[in-house]
Amino acid sequence: MSESPARPPSWQVCLRCGRELPLSFTKSRCPACSALLEARHRPPESRGPGLRDLFAARRGSGESLDASGVWRYRELVLPDAGSGVVTHPEGNTPLLFLSPVSRWTGIAELALKHEGHNPTGSFKDRGMTVGVTVAKRIGARAVACASTGNTSASLAAYAALAEIPALVFVPAGQVAAGKLAQTLAYGARTLLVRGDFDACFALAREASEKLNVYLLNSVNPYRLEGQKTILFEALEQLGWEPPDWIALPAGNLGNTSAFGNALREARELGLISRVPRLAAVQAEGANPFARGFREGFTRRHRVKAETAATAIRIGDPASHDRAVHAIRTTNGVVTDVTDDEILEAKAVVDASGAGCEPASAASVAGVKKLVAQGVIRPGERVVAILTGHILKDPGLLLRYHQEVDPAPPRANRPVEIEPALSAVEEVLGGEP
Ligand code: F0G
Repeated sequence: MSESPARPPSWQVCLRCGRELPLSFTKSRCPACSALLEARHRPPESRGPGLRDLFAARRGSGESLDASGVWRYRELVLPDAGSGVVTHPEGNTPLLFLSPVSRWTGIAELALKHEGHNPTGSFKDRGMTVGVTVAKRIGARAVACASTGNTSASLAAYAALAEIPALVFVPAGQVAAGKLAQTLAYGARTLLVRGDFDACFALAREASEKLNVYLLNSVNPYRLEGQKTILFEALEQLGWEPPDWIALPAGNLGNTSAFGNALREARELGLISRVPRLAAVQAEGANPFARGFREGFTRRHRVKAETAATAIRIGDPASHDRAVHAIRTTNGVVTDVTDDEILEAKAVVDASGAGCEPASAASVAGVKKLVAQGVIRPGERVVAILTGHILKDPGLLLRYHQEVDPAPPRANRPVEIEPALSAVEEVLGGEP
């Protein structure tokens, strides 16, 4: 698109053939070559220190958009955001420095960006506020997604805020209790599909194309625009002094793709002076991206996924190609960790007082593994993303701490007693 006064504030572009489409184009694939689309915006008026100052000034403002940790960065998300924005608000999540997690991973300067502090308890809210805002703007009659549980909870909440009907496809019997409960309570029409996430996604995509429903999986480019702000906010919290590494759990690869874009833009706009390396971490039983990385991404893998971290139980990630680009352009790495490693990392994060859901702990387990392999050096600065809240998966927690026999090494078994002080003394063994 050539520079002209008629250029809109935002549009979409095909990643493969370069075809340009208006924001109002509702399909998730290029009509010419079927590749995924990416959002583009007119460039911001300021750059570098000027842009940093603009973002900083908004932190103290009383304007409702500025209260959101997504919309505070609106020049890089959806520049003409206005009164029609659907926001809780979201973002404004903490960057935590926790000694037990640092010690366990071997990284002294480890910061945990806790996205579980979002309104529905996961990072999905950052993408959903943008996706549902666009859905409302283009007059979508309904919105839909396939999900392992967090996207559906977030979609259900934001669709309810916007008063747009929501339709979700989730794998029957494979969604953590907290997520399914949220999705139902926020009022989404919930379809329990007898199949895995990959089957749900294929069905949601077909339904959206044939039934005129706006698809809000992370193949939707506006979802990714919102998810970029995880990094804008983390970098701002670090005084725009980039860490050496950013570790994140990887499933459908939307976040990995969003992070690649965020870092490229932050560098191009002079917000940061160098690009951190991405470390995408998969579960060993759901590791098509890690397999591809080990082979230099010469081919795309698809697997039958199985892991206790149900959020990332995905065998055929939709954003595969753009995530490959993100890893390559950040000199990143992809690794995988076992379920035992994930559960141990989770127990460490939980017992530190922060807590997170199982998939989130993959990032921390991945950091420990990469340190042990000498890929990440102990003196480097690392940000690990905790993607979801501890209460998302209470079933797994209760099994881990009180049902599994023999008890896992970090289980905190409850003790049932008679209502008598002597019983308390017996349990404490004389120690208060
Ligand atoms: N962590 C959590 C807690 C998630 O819910 C997800 C994805 C990921 C990590 C992986 O992110 O897909 O961008 O690579 N959850 C999706 C869902 C699939 O339906 O909630 P990704």
